[in-house]
Amino acid sequence: MSDSNVLEGPANAAMRETLSVPEDAAVAVRRKKIHIKTYGCQMNVYDTNRMTDAMAPHGYDEVDTPEQADVVILNTCHIRERAAEKVYSELGRLRKMKDARAVEGDRVIIGVAGCVAQAEGDEIRRRAPTVDLVFGPQTYHRLPDMIARAGNGGPALVDTEFPAEDKFGHLPAPRRKQTLARGVTAFLTVQEGCDKFCTFCVVPYTRGAEFSRPVARIVGEARDLVAAGVREITLLGQNVNAYHGDAPHGGASTLGGLIRALAEIEGLERLRFTTSHPRDMDDDLIAAHGEPGKLMPYLHLPVQSGSDRILDAMNRQHTVSFYLDLIGRIRAARPDIALSSDFIVGFPGETDDDFEATIDLARKVRFAQAYSFKYSPRPGTPAAGEAGQVPEDVKAERLARLQAVINEGQLAFNEACVGRVLPVLFDRRGRHEAQLIGRSPYLQSVHVENVPEQLFGKLSDVIIEEGHANSLKGRLAQAAGQED
Ligand code: 5AD
Ligand code: SF4
Repeated sequence: MSDSNVLEGPANAAMRETLSVPEDAAVAVRRKKIHIKTYGCQMNVYDTNRMTDAMAPHGYDEVDTPEQADVVILNTCHIRERAAEKVYSELGRLRKMKDARAVEGDRVIIGVAGCVAQAEGDEIRRRAPTVDLVFGPQTYHRLPDMIARAGNGGPALVDTEFPAEDKFGHLPAPRRKQTLARGVTAFLTVQEGCDKFCTFCVVPYTRGAEFSRPVARIVGEARDLVAAGVREITLLGQNVNAYHGDAPHGGASTLGGLIRALAEIEGLERLRFTTSHPRDMDDDLIAAHGEPGKLMPYLHLPVQSGSDRILDAMNRQHTVSFYLDLIGRIRAARPDIALSSDFIVGFPGETDDDFEATIDLARKVRFAQAYSFKYSPRPGTPAAGEAGQVPEDVKAERLARLQAVINEGQLAFNEACVGRVLPVLFDRRGRHEAQLIGRSPYLQSVHVENVPEQLFGKLSDVIIEEGHANSLKGRLAQAAGQED
């Protein structure tokens, strides 16, 4: 979907200034097409939108397929195993398309962005000579310039620096897919990078050191999103609760402070944030969950393992009892909170006893939902080279057992909602006529039939009638036609 009108014409002067676009460039240049394929996390989705925004004043409209595009970018993720291999096989397909189009005299620029680009750098240029651009997550603001240079031919450009300047300060305000096409909910990156160095994780190497954006900038961006129709914002950061951005009147703001500042925006109904580290869950943030307001009762708080020995080997900087105590304090502040987590099974050295401790913890906490993964060695991370790697079949067996416990907890949480009236924000259309799908406060998908179209994008009370493994079903508390 392209909504190119937004930035066409005499694009706003301030934006041209930030991006150093010549006065009439946006109108004079033949409009070109860009396709960015996004892999991985929500932050990549956000980054893709920002990159698309950055290219719009340079004459680029977004298109849905690589075949239609003059510039194709893969925005990659490096968290999962074989991530790099998937990128190389996609590049193989793109090479064929590029060669075929070259015969027609059509020049296509191919770029690799994101965490695989950061981790592999020059290796991509070597293995996939079809690539014109390789650039890491901290250099997106340089994209227009990089594309202009790549368009002149020559060897591939590789930019995997962690520059001193803040990319956010050099990118135009977001205003496209995030706001207009996506509509009701949006992501907003407030913090990036991580200084925790868990021994399994690539993030500190691919996203760099922890960095927080200033409160004023985030509030400004959130206001723009709300003005364009967004009702729910999810604040993103790899270690979001370590947030310490500049406060408007000096000093640094905590995440709790940022949430309170954002909650004042009229028209914004809901706030969420992800992903948090247990160590950085301060009292103020816990208290914020107990305050009535816009912060939703859902917290993603990865624990990774239920064994202290493994947590130590992971360099998680917390123990099981610290985590359980924290959960107790959060539940004291907000008894109905839905808790979510990430788990890794088969970390090097994980014994049957360690794994049983993880099962115990999952049973004790009863997560409303959770993600679980088999450990996969990530090149360059400390754990990758450790002795005691767990055999694949053991990992698979443990994963299946853990997932069964998690699914049980999830179903129990969903079933416990039956009979309750929950406010649902309708943000998607279902497959049936007049079916809308929305999110409960606890982030469950709620399917509702016979919903008048005007409720799309609005909060409505829904009586929950069925609780399933992955969703809820309900009916409007107020029959259609009766509102007002
Ligand atoms: N192996 C398996 N899972 C991992 N994760 C991060 N790195 C790895 C890895 N090397 C998981 C963690 C993290 C989530 C985003 O991905 O559980 O919280
Ligand atoms: Fe990776 Fe999260 Fe650990 Fe940071 S806190 S190193 S992002 S797992």
